[in-house]
Amino acid sequence: MYRLTGLLTIVVLLASCSSEEPQEHVQEAQELTVYTHRHYEADQELFAQFEKEHNVKLNVVNASADELMNKMKSEGELCPADVLITVDAGRLQRATDQGLLQPTSNPAIEAIVPSHLRDAQGHWFALTKRARAIAYNASNTTLPEGLAIEDLAAPAWKGKILVRSSENIYNQSLLASLIIHHGRDSALSWAQGVVANMAREPKGNDRDQMKALYAGEGELAIVNSYYLGKLVQSEDSLEAEVGKAITLYFPNQDGHGAHVNISGIGVAKHAPNAELAQTFIAHLLSVPSQEVFSSANFEYPVNSNATVDPLLASWGSFKEDDVSIAALGAHNKEAVLVFDEAQWK
Ligand SMILES: [Fe+2]
Repeated sequence: MYRLTGLLTIVVLLASCSSEEPQEHVQEAQELTVYTHRHYEADQELFAQFEKEHNVKLNVVNASADELMNKMKSEGELCPADVLITVDAGRLQRATDQGLLQPTSNPAIEAIVPSHLRDAQGHWFALTKRARAIAYNASNTTLPEGLAIEDLAAPAWKGKILVRSSENIYNQSLLASLIIHHGRDSALSWAQGVVANMAREPKGNDRDQMKALYAGEGELAIVNSYYLGKLVQSEDSLEAEVGKAITLYFPNQDGHGAHVNISGIGVAKHAPNAELAQTFIAHLLSVPSQEVFSSANFEYPVNSNATVDPLLASWGSFKEDDVSIAALGAHNKEAVLVFDEAQWK
């Protein structure tokens, strides 16, 4: 990215030396500051393209979502961030509730992002989608047809389920979706049922659940879809082996659809360049950018005109739960309490 920026600077300088036009015609590069919790190569590639196409210098600040939000809070009006990029509805809602984002109204962006995948006031917009699906090893396990995530609380799954800790926001949003669909009491019984069915105490990340599955520690794992892509394409031979052995199952196809979460972006409350920030958001939502997210990071495009990467397409198309992402965020605190009550570690 820096090399590209450097090249760009040289090109601009050469243009200013060789051109006979007055120098004031050479535009100074504008700057845009991006606070991002994502740390993927796909993002770096898209950022570099934006710099080149729009003659903008991006200042990218990478840290955890909590660190970035605390930084925005403590910097207040002096915060240089133009946009905040993070993953999961819960975090985007938290940033909105804390007053860190500003409402944005932009018809071009709104035409791309379906209404359930953005904040009604435009505080944030989804950039990519990821399904929270069920992973299994098809060589030794068959899953029944019509399986719903709700079914995993049934005694038939005792000792068979691998899933990470309830501190994880992906699980919190999944539980929030069950609170929305069935109410708090039903969501609590579900969480208690899953706890009773766990193959082991929750530990590790989604990739670790699939590794444990491959090692025969359980029969199914609850994971985000893109982690399977990361395993399949991993340079680590064991991870690649695990990836090849695992199949994804999208639950709830006969009902409300598989739970889907997002990564998203919002314009910072005190953005020095709010207008340019919108151009940046539109760039990330363009068809070519969306296809990079899909092919390089195995996420599903938000822009319906973008083609899904062949690896993702090989997992099959599926019905998505279209519960509003904002509602997931709004039920995050309740989900955390329900998990505590269910003693899901
Ligand atoms: Fe993740």
